[in-house]
Amino acid sequence: MAKILGVGIATLDIINEVEGYPPEDSEVRALAQHRRTGGNVTNTLTVLSQLAHQGHFAGVLTQDSDGLLIQEKLQQQGIDLSHAVRIGYGHAPTSYITLNRVTGSRSIVHFRDLPEYDVSPFLKIDLNPFDWLHFEGRHCMDTAAMLAWARKLHPTMPISLEVEKERPFLDQLFPFPDVVFFSRAFALGRGFAQPEAFLAEAATWAPQAVLILGWGAAGAYLRDPTQTGLNAHIPSTPVDSVVDTIGAGDTLIAGVIHGRLDRMTWPDALTFGVRLAEKKIAQSGFENLGSTEEQTEQPLCRLDDLGPADALGVRPIQGIPSIVVVREHNRIQAFANVCPHNGSPLARTARRGYLVEKPSGPVLRCDVHNAHFDPQSGYCTKGPCTGRHLQPVPLRIQQGRVYLDGEVIAPVIMGSEMPSS
Ligand code: FES
Repeated sequence: MAKILGVGIATLDIINEVEGYPPEDSEVRALAQHRRTGGNVTNTLTVLSQLAHQGHFAGVLTQDSDGLLIQEKLQQQGIDLSHAVRIGYGHAPTSYITLNRVTGSRSIVHFRDLPEYDVSPFLKIDLNPFDWLHFEGRHCMDTAAMLAWARKLHPTMPISLEVEKERPFLDQLFPFPDVVFFSRAFALGRGFAQPEAFLAEAATWAPQAVLILGWGAAGAYLRDPTQTGLNAHIPSTPVDSVVDTIGAGDTLIAGVIHGRLDRMTWPDALTFGVRLAEKKIAQSGFENLGSTEEQTEQPLCRLDDLGPADALGVRPIQGIPSIVVVREHNRIQAFANVCPHNGSPLARTARRGYLVEKPSGPVLRCDVHNAHFDPQSGYCTKGPCTGRHLQPVPLRIQQGRVYLDGEVIAPVIMGSEMPSS
């Protein structure tokens, strides 16, 4: 379990579900109404707490009835409020959300009369216990001071910034974070209709940072400063029925933070975030996004992710560090990414690079001591574990997606311990 400090606002969301947006100067009856906590950072912390992390909120809380309700709900979700500033006046920020039940899209009217969280209480927080700091891009002069302070005191602490909309002095924030999450609305607002062009421009604002851009139904894009150009596009898997898009971007952010804390590569972490956001928009609210049972129903990958002769490392599951899905034309197999020689992953961080072409045909190769495995049977044909097998993983293919099908049996490694996931 990691500790994540989130700096931003907490709101009360009052959500009216309707069959279609009402025209101006009209009256419609809501099909249902929900009241729940909202705010970008608090949504992200809520999802992270479901993924077994400890979220801590730093922001302003009021003591009116809505403010007390927000506090109660956040604490029920396991979010620590000891770094929040409680004030005895003002009203809790409220978002009145009209949610179109047919399309899942929403319009928001936000009311806020509170002072913003400023730098002084932040300077009193002991940042040492935290594994990750996440900031909303708002109230920018103070947030820039917080970012600069955190970066100076903790040069290697992962710091992320969410940029959802234009704000005065926003560009002051860009020199400090390791990762910046941009929204499509922000990119469009800056005049970019193409993700690639936006990310190329954003790389000049924050050249040190990994840049992630959510693009709605098209998925998300990633630009890594250690690579040149756009280096990952994770497309969305079509969702059968879009129920509720509120907080989908915040969920994606939580998935990426979780993935990185779980030592995934950037593309794998973004894939995890996109899949989590897909799960979120197929349901109302944030409940059970992190449940293991539900996670197993997420596809491991799509058939399209694999070329005709290809192997792909996919996310950790059921205690196995990761799985390698192998395709040779119409034959799909998967194995635990655990070498039978000593329990190491075949390739610790790579998403690709497992399948190597040899004169006798392709082999799965372990990077560590160059063992070769038959890509269909998992049988080791060369190297220090010749004669042993990779542990097969049961699969099913459904609607162009590859799913785990049944329980994964953890491999037993002769004479060594399983590595921890
Ligand atoms: S760990 Fe794979 S060959 Fe040694």
